Amino acid sequence: MSMIEQEVINNIRNGVDIVDIISNYIPLIPRGKNYFGVCPFHDDKNPSMSVSKDKQIYTCFSCGATGNVFKFMMDYEHISFPESLKRCADIAGIPLNISINKESNYANKYSELYEIYDLGYKFYQNNINTINGKEAKDYLKSRQINDEMIKHFGIGLALDDCKILTNLLIKKKYDSKHLIQSGLVIKNEYGLSDIFKDRIMFPIEDINGRVVGFSGRIYRGDDMAKYINTKETDIFKKGELLYNFNRAKEECRLSGQVIVMEGQMDVIRAYSIGVKNVVATLGTAVTKQQALLIKKMAKEIIICFDGDIAGAKGTMACANELIDVGVIPKVIRLEDNLDPDDYIKKHGNKFLSKINNPMNVMDFKLSYLKHNIDLNDSEDMAKYVNTIIEELNKIDDEILREITIKKISEESKLDIEFLKSKLSPVPNDIVIPIKKEKISVKENKYQKAQKYLIFYMLRNKDVIKIYNKKITYMPTEKYRYLAYEIGLFYKENGYIDIADLISSLTDNEDLLKVIGELESLNLKDEYTLDEIDDYINTIKEFNINYQIKRLEEKMRKEDDALEKAKIADEIIKLKKGESND
Ligand code: UTP
Ligand code: MN
Repeated sequence: MSMIEQEVINNIRNGVDIVDIISNYIPLIPRGKNYFGVCPFHDDKNPSMSVSKDKQIYTCFSCGATGNVFKFMMDYEHISFPESLKRCADIAGIPLNISINKESNYANKYSELYEIYDLGYKFYQNNINTINGKEAKDYLKSRQINDEMIKHFGIGLALDDCKILTNLLIKKKYDSKHLIQSGLVIKNEYGLSDIFKDRIMFPIEDINGRVVGFSGRIYRGDDMAKYINTKETDIFKKGELLYNFNRAKEECRLSGQVIVMEGQMDVIRAYSIGVKNVVATLGTAVTKQQALLIKKMAKEIIICFDGDIAGAKGTMACANELIDVGVIPKVIRLEDNLDPDDYIKKHGNKFLSKINNPMNVMDFKLSYLKHNIDLNDSEDMAKYVNTIIEELNKIDDEILREITIKKISEESKLDIEFLKSKLSPVPNDIVIPIKKEKISVKENKYQKAQKYLIFYMLRNKDVIKIYNKKITYMPTEKYRYLAYEIGLFYKENGYIDIADLISSLTDNEDLLKVIGELESLNLKDEYTLDEIDDYINTIKEFNINYQIKRLEEKMRKEDDALEKAKIADEIIKLKKGESND
């Protein structure tokens, strides 16, 4: 990052408008001077994120996420700073020649694990193309997976011999501790050996497209487990990733739609008929993190799980997890218990019309909940209606509520108004009041003075100058760091601008949170010099009191009378305000 000059970065930032860019990802509603949208960085249901056109920054009043246009892209798209820079430069029409290096700090910390996975990935891929891979290839062919698809999804093969990969890794001088940690190597009474034997290997990538795990499928022989997955490691957390995320994300952004399936085979099959905006949960129950990831991928979310009962159950759970993070998904159900893989093999492009006509989530729930109950039985009916009401309470789409109420009224012959009275009210405020800083009685004046002072330092270089001249030290650590960064930015650039300052802080989540905290104060932009003086004096007062306290402590411990007198003298000076400013 340091290779790109600050000026170039600033020009690119000035060449785009944060409101335009964020609007491409989430709908923004203008309100007053700012724009508001549902925050994509936490499970927000109401528009708590404010985007300022003036300052070119965003702040979420609920989770504290704060940043400029680069930071938004980085966090939304899971890309690096240079990558976000490149994208903005393209949008702004500013030529920028940089090579994008995907290494991150996180990557360095676990570089051994990533390397081991990368080697394993290449090794498995190589195997499938050798003579030993013939049977595996035949198997894949029988499942209509051709060479192009094998390559595209990086499918490989773990060999029958159980030591080859292990020995290769040992030869590369990897520590046995790391090898075992990776989940590719096991230690038993015969020493180290490969965990995966004679399986077709599907690489699983993290959200940045790095191979972090494998799912290995049997293709001959009679092993009990159809798939074996690598164990969870520091870089492989199944609940935090989605199969095919990285390959699909652009496709999803462009089409505005993401299809969620269960298995990798389903994703691969969908790809074969040109449907590329697909991810898979890999058979596990969808977690909140996955739901948040899915939510960010596209506006329209379609759940297309297996057509069997287990798939219906999974659809229900996935839908609820998504509703919980504030999005209402659509649903596709496949007939005859087929999974997407089999369905597409059997019906081909008919699958496309399924995608174009997904079910509404409440219709799905109605049919799911009707399953196995007898609507002629009053008790069953009561249970059914109650459950639907419960499900409806999770949804704040009023039209969907209305339509569903009508439907269950017809089914149950219960009065519409009666059913409606059972619903909890929709939080009907599109315009959400900004969470005002809780003015706790205890918030002490020193905290306040620091916050207010920095708030204005972020806006006006004169305040920075005053700060530099009069104060050398902010009592609270986080404010001290931020004040330091502001001072540094001003020294290097001769001006202050929050959005430009943030460019140099994109890796510093803590300080960005502090900026967010200060922005949420929503103070008026104008200030008087008297006010600034007040803050300065308050902070100085704190610092002096602090010094006095320390000296008094020192004096108490001092035995030498002369020394004691000296300290007392210092204290007096401090109290009179004669000492250093
Ligand atoms: P499925 O049992 O539906 O497998 O499990 P599938 O996708 O139809 O696979 P094929 O067609 O038989 O090859 C869905 C997903 O659950 C995970 C896998 O990721 C699979 O794609 N799974 C399944 C496991 O992890 N372990 C298993 O034993 C089975
Ligand atoms: Mn299948």
